[in-house]
Amino acid sequence: MAKNFYITTPIYYVNARPHIGHAYTTIACDTIARRQRLLGSDTYFLTGTDEHGQKIQRAAEAAGKSPQQFTDEVSAEFRALWDRMRITYDDYIRTTSDRHKRGVQELWRRIRDNGHIYKGSYTGQYCVFDELYVDVGPGQPCSECGRPTETVKEENYFFKLSAFAEPLLQLYTSQPDFIRPETRRNEVIAFVRSGLRDLSISRSTFSWGIPVPDDPKHVVYVWLDALANYITALGYGSDDPSKFKNFWPADVHMIGKEIVRFHCVYWPAFLMAAGLPLPKSIVAHGWLLFEESKMSKSRGNIVRTETILDVLGADALRYFLLREVVFGQDGSFSFDALVQRYNSDLANGLGNLASRTLAMITRYFKGEVPYPSNAAAHTGEEDLIAALAKHTINEFHELFEQHQFSRALELAWALVAAVDKYIVENEPWALAEKHDEHSRSRLATVLYTSAEALRIVTALAHPVMPEATARIWIQLGLGEIANASLADLRWGQLKLGTKLGKVEPVFPRADKSAIERMQMIEDQQRNPAGATEAQPATGTQAPPPSASQGSAPLNKPAPAATPDGKITIDDFSKVELRVAQVKVAEKVKGADKLLRLEVDLGTETRQILAGIAEAYAPETLVGRKIVIVANLAPRKMRGLESNGMLLAASLEGGKPVLAAFLEEVPVGARLK
Ligand code: MSP
Repeated sequence: MAKNFYITTPIYYVNARPHIGHAYTTIACDTIARRQRLLGSDTYFLTGTDEHGQKIQRAAEAAGKSPQQFTDEVSAEFRALWDRMRITYDDYIRTTSDRHKRGVQELWRRIRDNGHIYKGSYTGQYCVFDELYVDVGPGQPCSECGRPTETVKEENYFFKLSAFAEPLLQLYTSQPDFIRPETRRNEVIAFVRSGLRDLSISRSTFSWGIPVPDDPKHVVYVWLDALANYITALGYGSDDPSKFKNFWPADVHMIGKEIVRFHCVYWPAFLMAAGLPLPKSIVAHGWLLFEESKMSKSRGNIVRTETILDVLGADALRYFLLREVVFGQDGSFSFDALVQRYNSDLANGLGNLASRTLAMITRYFKGEVPYPSNAAAHTGEEDLIAALAKHTINEFHELFEQHQFSRALELAWALVAAVDKYIVENEPWALAEKHDEHSRSRLATVLYTSAEALRIVTALAHPVMPEATARIWIQLGLGEIANASLADLRWGQLKLGTKLGKVEPVFPRADKSAIERMQMIEDQQRNPAGATEAQPATGTQAPPPSASQGSAPLNKPAPAATPDGKITIDDFSKVELRVAQVKVAEKVKGADKLLRLEVDLGTETRQILAGIAEAYAPETLVGRKIVIVANLAPRKMRGLESNGMLLAASLEGGKPVLAAFLEEVPVGARLK
């Protein structure tokens, strides 16, 4: 009977549009799911979106939309991207769906009826960005992400997390693979050993969530709501528990390292409290960095997946991310590195091996796989290639099981390099010039060996690069790659006389313009108003005399102007002006005019540098509401990144005056 295999991605928050950080997790899961299917497992792959909570509610308000409309739109964007990338998810769960709500309420009741929930009151700090209760004093930043926290004083329901410290520690000991890699496991153990406090699991000061059963004034804490997706998608709490029976417990919850605590501490504790089986493993990967910091919307340093799909295609991105980044560790993304890797490993590596081998078989053997008929035509070299291929198959499986994708691919590409060298040394094109029987057999041997190695690498790489390998498979004359079985992959299965398909290049070489094109598309996305013309994206030039360096005098002409100097309403609407509240203000060392501000935009906190130090003492700014240009490309000043620009009147010979409101306005509101 086929083994069942259940894998999940985190469900993505819909406050931000998808970027390659999200794609990274989804690609890793898709690769594992595809491989499991090829191995014959009955596989279920779940992804979806996390749509409740204060962060999302505020993001919707800031966008001037109802939370439902807003979440519908962004969730559809994630899904459309996964569809465009041909991600083979079996289900897409949304936490705003009825099936999910029912399941969450059922989970709540089970935990409550088992005696693990009580009512209390919570006064403390809450980080909206992480949707996390943090143990810091009022006014102090979040201990996890450094963003400002808010004081929450509410009557809440509490979960008796403290009672689960011992069972959790036992779990980590008895099931060492529960958390992977080891470094994350050690962190979790240290965290639990340092003591667990009961956890507030409801909120009552906003309503965008799932009502608590029998007390609908409260909504379920967004992390309890979100984590439950892994079982509600399988029909937990519904009338049809068949999928839940088949696939739970999950084989792998794949996550980014920043949400380890939620998955490795809270989630198993909730499940234990409900009397449900625990997932088999939680695998945490590192972050994709761009320009040295974590790629994220709030830092403004994201790269959109679509840009790479447009220029190089999904397979190039998939290969790059899994080959370049050591899984579990942080890895840098750059367009240069992407194109370099594409050219060296795909265009010159696998692509070249495929096109030269298949083109020679077409030319010298009328497109039919030849077989060495003469034993003398067989040398020790072929034995070496066959032995290397066998070793590659075994090791590749082993490394993939341990999620060491980059090492597995490195190994497979060592086989590509060995076969390349073998072809160069044996010069089949020279053998083809000779017409004696031995040369002909030798030519057949060399081309058979090359094609068989190509077949093996193609099969192994298929879960990583599904489209390109499917094309090579057809060119090899083997038909639908989906019908191939990875479990039985062995040297020597390529049959004599197999008729090749039409030989076409699979990875055309990318030239330098590919990098420029991707950079240009991204620049346009980040800076739709063309604001970089007025504000260089990077640089450390001295502040001009009046309010600038991250502040925009109100009388400055707008960037895109018609010949008479006027702009259209469309031009204006490209500039995203928003109300923000200053949380932190301080002088920048060595810069008399500059202040460093941390401002709250409702959905996120930004750092902005502004040349207003001569007009405003930092402490007078904290708590003040200001206006910022929110979609300005980030730039560096004095080594610090300024992510936006505040608005101030620039007075001739005088000091800048900040734009302000007479009436009360909510943080994040857009100015139109
Ligand atoms: N909604 C929660 C998860 C709930 S799961 C029950 C959440 N969402 S998120 O949108 O912030 O995205 C989380 C995941 O996206 C990360 O755990 C990670 O898998 C992926 N990534 C987002 N940015 C990333 C990088 N810069 N690099 C790598 N992965 C990143 O947390």
